[in-house]
Amino acid sequence: MSEHKFRTMGEQAGRRSWAEPWKIKMVEPLRMTTRAEREQAILEAGYNTFLLRSADVYIDLLTDSGTSAMSDRQWAGMMLGDEAYAGSVNYYHLEEAVQEFYGYKYLVPTHQGRGAEHLISQAVVKKGQYVPGNMYFTTTRLHQEMAGGIFVDVIIDEAHDPQNLHPFKGNIDLVKLENLFKEKGASNIAYVSLAGTVNMAGGQPVSMANVKDVRALCDRYGVKLYLDATRMVENSYFIQQREEGYGDKPVADILREFCSYTDGAWMSGKKDHLVNIGGWLAVNDWDLFEELRNLVVVYEGLHTYGGMAGRDMEAMAIGIRESVSDDHIRARIGQVLYLGQLLTDWGIPIVQPVGGHAIFLDARRFYPHIPQDEFPSQMLAAQLYLDSGIRSMERGIVSAGRDPQTGDHRRPKLELTRLTIPRRVYTEAHMDVVAESINEVYQKREQTKGLKMVYEPQYLRFFQARFEPIQ
Ligand code: F0G
Repeated sequence: MSEHKFRTMGEQAGRRSWAEPWKIKMVEPLRMTTRAEREQAILEAGYNTFLLRSADVYIDLLTDSGTSAMSDRQWAGMMLGDEAYAGSVNYYHLEEAVQEFYGYKYLVPTHQGRGAEHLISQAVVKKGQYVPGNMYFTTTRLHQEMAGGIFVDVIIDEAHDPQNLHPFKGNIDLVKLENLFKEKGASNIAYVSLAGTVNMAGGQPVSMANVKDVRALCDRYGVKLYLDATRMVENSYFIQQREEGYGDKPVADILREFCSYTDGAWMSGKKDHLVNIGGWLAVNDWDLFEELRNLVVVYEGLHTYGGMAGRDMEAMAIGIRESVSDDHIRARIGQVLYLGQLLTDWGIPIVQPVGGHAIFLDARRFYPHIPQDEFPSQMLAAQLYLDSGIRSMERGIVSAGRDPQTGDHRRPKLELTRLTIPRRVYTEAHMDVVAESINEVYQKREQTKGLKMVYEPQYLRFFQARFEPIQ
């Protein structure tokens, strides 16, 4: 146990802690590297943490996507995989779980979230139509744009301010949304793209009141509302904790109520569902479902597997049930909050309030002397790796990509480095090591310089771009 924790416990006599609602049955050894090895590795990776080999990483906080530890029940479910090409038993288990906990009528399985984003974008976006959303997500917006849509950010202004303490920074600004409806005409809006929580804003939630208001506005203008449900369980926990009238409700009930205000959803099962691969798309409209079922067989696989093995669907169906347990979600988000509290206590600039899946370091305040065009968040991720072998990722100007019209960098207000916490994988002691490394890099911040980009891919450049330090 860390010194920090002893101190807090001494100060709070009578305190009662919660702990994870599981114990560990199997472990995966980690490799520690030397500073010299890490210097070599980051150089070979072009200062891009996506290009590191995972064998060279100590604590991997690159993403919470597909990195969860599955339960013994899920592993047992893998053995019950019915690998029939059509009509697998596991597909029906998955359908049942989605209907029960998310409440949508018709299910289309996909290999992961972006497969679902592709299908919905192709089915409902017409060339030149606008797609308003509560801040963009990289793959979501790209699929909307590739289908001919024009993305418009309608999130509340507070979301772009890392220090603003609004409890629901994922909310849609109803004035911005209605103005867009009026200005462009409802027929020129493909749909409203709502994500809970908002990844790029720092894992910030949307309130129940907001989704109800957005629903009412969409009804008035005859516009559809689709949900990115990727981290909707985490969003539901924040509603339970922060929104009046929900304190006594189970997370599962909150989730279902929230979804009931939307016309359908897409899902990256690799997050909330506690699996390593998988996704889905679910809608209430039969005609749209028919079209999606036609598309899924072209791009993903038959409509009863969508790119997943039977065993993957079984693990996901079980993961859905585990994910909505209040004990699980309290421990999951509790671990993120624990790390966030340490960093806050030590005065390190992070996005506040702390979100559901990650800590986001505010690189603008961390490295105020590095201009945005010299990629401060990218450099911060590289420095953390160099210090301790911890892997984080850039969520700033590199992730934002280029404007398709002007070709210039998009320069987001938020210039962040994300430390994403995998579910059920690391302990509190790992979080202490992470916090201490961040603090070390922070103490040396003034000696750190920026980067220049030396290779830039056309799509989703953050995954494969290469950089060199500015001397
Ligand atoms: N929507 C959100 C909000 C996401 O965070 C992601 C993936 C996707 C959609 C796409 O899903 O990866 O299964 O194709 N986010 C990962 C991340 C990659 O690291 O944040 P996918």
